[in-house]
Amino acid sequence: MNAFLSAQCPMPHVPCPMPHTVISVRDLRHFYGKQTDEAVAGLNLDIYQGEIFGLIGPDGAGKTTTFQILSGVMPQKSGIVEVLNSQARDVRLQLGYLTQRFSLYQDMSILENLRYAAGLHEVSDAAFKTRSKHYLELLDLAQFQERLAGRLSGGMKQKLALCCVLIHQPKILLLDEPTTGVDPVSRREFWDILAQLAVTENITTVVATPYLDEAERCSRIALMYEGKIQQCDTPANVKASLGVQRLEVYLAIAQLDQAADILKNNVDLRDTVSDVQRFGDRLDVLTAQPQETTKRIKNILKQQQMEIENLAVDSPTLENTFVARLRELKGDNVAGNYPRFFPLEKSTATAIGAENLNKIFGNFRAVKDINLDIKYGEVFGLLGANGAGKTTTIKMLCGLLSASSGIVSLVGETGQLRSAKVRQQLGYMSQKFTLYDDLTIGQNLEFYCGVYGIPRRHRRVKKNWVLQMSDLEGQEDRLTADLPGGWKQRVAFGAAVMHEPKVVFLDEPTSGVDPLARREFWRWINQFASEGMAVLVTTHYLEEAEQCHRLGFMVAGELVAQGTPRQVKQEQPGQLVEWECTHLQQASDLLKERLDRRRVSIFGSRLHTILDNPQAEIPIVENWLKENGIKVQSHREIEFSLEDVFINVVEQARQRGLDVPKD
Ligand SMILES: Nc1ncnc2c1ncn2[C@@H]1O[C@H](COP(=O)(O)OP(=O)(O)OP(=O)(O)O)[C@@H](O)[C@H]1O
Ligand SMILES: [Mg+2]
Repeated sequence: MNAFLSAQCPMPHVPCPMPHTVISVRDLRHFYGKQTDEAVAGLNLDIYQGEIFGLIGPDGAGKTTTFQILSGVMPQKSGIVEVLNSQARDVRLQLGYLTQRFSLYQDMSILENLRYAAGLHEVSDAAFKTRSKHYLELLDLAQFQERLAGRLSGGMKQKLALCCVLIHQPKILLLDEPTTGVDPVSRREFWDILAQLAVTENITTVVATPYLDEAERCSRIALMYEGKIQQCDTPANVKASLGVQRLEVYLAIAQLDQAADILKNNVDLRDTVSDVQRFGDRLDVLTAQPQETTKRIKNILKQQQMEIENLAVDSPTLENTFVARLRELKGDNVAGNYPRFFPLEKSTATAIGAENLNKIFGNFRAVKDINLDIKYGEVFGLLGANGAGKTTTIKMLCGLLSASSGIVSLVGETGQLRSAKVRQQLGYMSQKFTLYDDLTIGQNLEFYCGVYGIPRRHRRVKKNWVLQMSDLEGQEDRLTADLPGGWKQRVAFGAAVMHEPKVVFLDEPTSGVDPLARREFWRWINQFASEGMAVLVTTHYLEEAEQCHRLGFMVAGELVAQGTPRQVKQEQPGQLVEWECTHLQQASDLLKERLDRRRVSIFGSRLHTILDNPQAEIPIVENWLKENGIKVQSHREIEFSLEDVFINVVEQARQRGLDVPKD
């Protein structure tokens, strides 16, 4: 029996042995170069065998530095670190460390990369065979095993890197943002693997993630800020420590931002509301007095002629807690106005158009007959699993990659997409590379001012805006390589939009960005669109996609569904039922066996099931759970979230046999 799990969830008949400490950290401190600020400033931690321990914190909190020290890659400046009762560097073979910037061999295939990683850790041929097959299948890479790593999509690379750290089944996994860029279906599969390894192999995992719904699946989490741990406990206790309930207030999407501002600033709510947070299709209001606050909110919004579509009371999520704590610690970033020198003309014309667009690499069809018509002022979200063809489509649409066949029209041009005239009207933030690591932030921004032809007299103002919106004022001379990933994304986002483009392509702009900063990005995106800009954006954070005006779902190169967020939700068959129960992972495993796999998925601390006939099926499901020692605390019928839709669309398309042919 997994010692930690049995200690965590005591059954009356199972003795609870003391958890066995595998990582112990005392007063750990580290700083870089001549900097006076410590990146890690007195960390104390005990991590137990078999637990999944989450490090969460905003960009730049000191998580990556901590991982580098725990993995023995870098010595600390002071403090004690013991890993498996030894110095970290002496037990490196027993650790699996996934860095944020992993190194795959680009000119080796998936299988060769994996075999190489296995060889380094002396994995037997037999073990390699079964494990590689298992992991590649679970993460949906099996059919591409002969493909060179350099030719994989961003998320596929990340998944391969994950397989490489799992292949030798180390005693401790150190995972620095393992699922950044990984699609929602694969993210779940990956967390199922982690949970399974903890139970069956007693493997300990330390994981950093900006996805707070994932962090709900950890046994314990530590909230890090400015190099220190602010709070460390089980997710349930961390959430309870806020001492509040959560009101879900559903309004028309276009009114949400305005409503959030109204509620945040209303004096009548000052004494009862501790935080207001905008989510995809709703506001989450945190309050210790749900009834009284509900009454007041209804009144306030009614006075503003805003109609509440639905209002429900629930417990706070970890993301609520994280954002609320972060606001207490650092406050919201107040960014100045976007400097606009050339007002955009409002237009109803097509900004981005595609007719039967195709891309064939060798004998592999990456994009199949895509048709798109995106207008000025529209935010269009392109969603899809890793390798579905989103980046390839974007590259063709903005003229970086030639199409195998089909027609692209962009800002009114159809032929010459690479002219300077077209380029000045476009902004493009690529999935991985946008900034030069060996230039300072200021030099990077100057470079993009040049590329996009910003007049010299405007450059200072533009650059200042980017620094301000990225929370990096006064740090222009920092080398870009030294910036935490989330901060690089902010600068790259600013660089892509500062020249007042009419059309912007944002390929996973918020990947690896902390929840608070992600909201800021979307405030800007919405503002730009309302001023008349066309935005094409991809994201694996589906609750962000709620803010898009229209969505397109891609599966295996095809656009399989299109519509507003509401339309695509309404097209889903079945009813969503959300369950709150003990032993979440076991419950999910069990129901996946009994119901169709695609009908069951873990959402944070809850389980979602899609049922065709809830009245008849709910008691049956309840019974199954009960028979297996799982206690159901509550269940309710809820509306589909876009993440549910995504999982459903992708899985259904797979079942229809719409799958990518082998190379
Ligand atoms: N140069 C290339 N040669 C061969 N195949 C390629 C090449 N570039 C991309 N592909 C393949 O095309 C498919 C689509 O890749 P693409 O990068 O467009 O996916 P994506 O939807 O952006 O995925 P992600 O969510 O992971 O970013 C993948 O199977 C990828 O391996
Ligand atoms: Mg991509």
